[in-house]
Amino acid sequence: MILSIESSCDDSSIAITQISTKKLIYHKKISQEEQHSVYGGVVPELASRLHAVALPEILKETKPYFKDLKAISVTNQPGLGITLLEGITMAKTLAVLLDIPLIAVHHLKGHIYSLFIEKESISPLLVLLISGGHTQIIRVKDFDNMEILATSMDDSVGESFDKCAKMMGLGYPGGPIVEQLAKDGDEDRFDLPVPLRNSPLIAFSLSGLKNAVRLKVEVLGGKEAMTTQDKSDLSASFQKAIKLHLIQKSKKIFAREDIKDFAIVGGASANKYIRDAYQKLCDEFGKKLHLAPLQYCSDNAGMIGRYAIDAYQRERFIDPNEIDIVSTKKQKSGMLL
Ligand code: KG4
Ligand code: ZN
Repeated sequence: MILSIESSCDDSSIAITQISTKKLIYHKKISQEEQHSVYGGVVPELASRLHAVALPEILKETKPYFKDLKAISVTNQPGLGITLLEGITMAKTLAVLLDIPLIAVHHLKGHIYSLFIEKESISPLLVLLISGGHTQIIRVKDFDNMEILATSMDDSVGESFDKCAKMMGLGYPGGPIVEQLAKDGDEDRFDLPVPLRNSPLIAFSLSGLKNAVRLKVEVLGGKEAMTTQDKSDLSASFQKAIKLHLIQKSKKIFAREDIKDFAIVGGASANKYIRDAYQKLCDEFGKKLHLAPLQYCSDNAGMIGRYAIDAYQRERFIDPNEIDIVSTKKQKSGMLL
């Protein structure tokens, strides 16, 4: 079995996966959403302190499995430096004490592997990754070859949901709240710009849309003056613009990539409105849509553990003294290393 740890942002999570069967034997996640919601976003120092309490608490429950462990795996990039450190310190200590190998996991590859929890992996695969930190289309050729085909030039999809929710005084995380409100809204009431609509660029940009939402909030007299209907209509119009943007750019990639399997992963992939739009697009292009179960869309150690199984089988181990912490800010490469 492998014990896996995830602490890249505001979820403390540990999983035990069985190597031979790929089964998720144990999985627990303590989310910090409530503690961060008063600030309308994640406060890194607070997140780090909460991980320092939650991770040891979960680890205690996994003690019965210690004797069966063959490796420890941990998210080491990308994420918040000081929260990654909490998981990595624990992982290094366990690997040294139990004298078993350590596996470093790239968080975004973990999201991709959320598709394969308790399943065989598939490739080649095209993946739209929409999370709080990233918005990318990735071509997965195989375990060692994952290339970013399109990325956001500024905010991510999840982040823009969070920021718009904050502007309307809706709480954190904004994604699920905005999606829920949008169900009762008129998506055509506000004319919001679809980002990069007339640009040939195959890239994403969400900061302009966020500013357009800010202006609408101002015109409506600020969040305090907005009615629930205003908030629903603005949520729906915002969500529609995001959908049109994602679909427009994805179409361009679909037209040139003949990979038949397509997947959406990451926290925002839980959004049913976006899922439905992609189901239509996949039908149109003859692609098969793959989605992770809802509970594994947002950050979790189960996906880290699933990736770790494939890494273990390839003996991709790292010396505990050499594991690097790469924060989101430091990451630029077009390849998922
Ligand atoms: O993947 P994730 O848990 O963390 C990162 O790796 O960043 O994604 C969290 C993000 C948050 O920004 C949250 O608002 C967004 O996913 N999210 C959603 C929905 N559920 C979560 N965005 C849109 N619609 C949703 N239903
Ligand atoms: Zn994530």
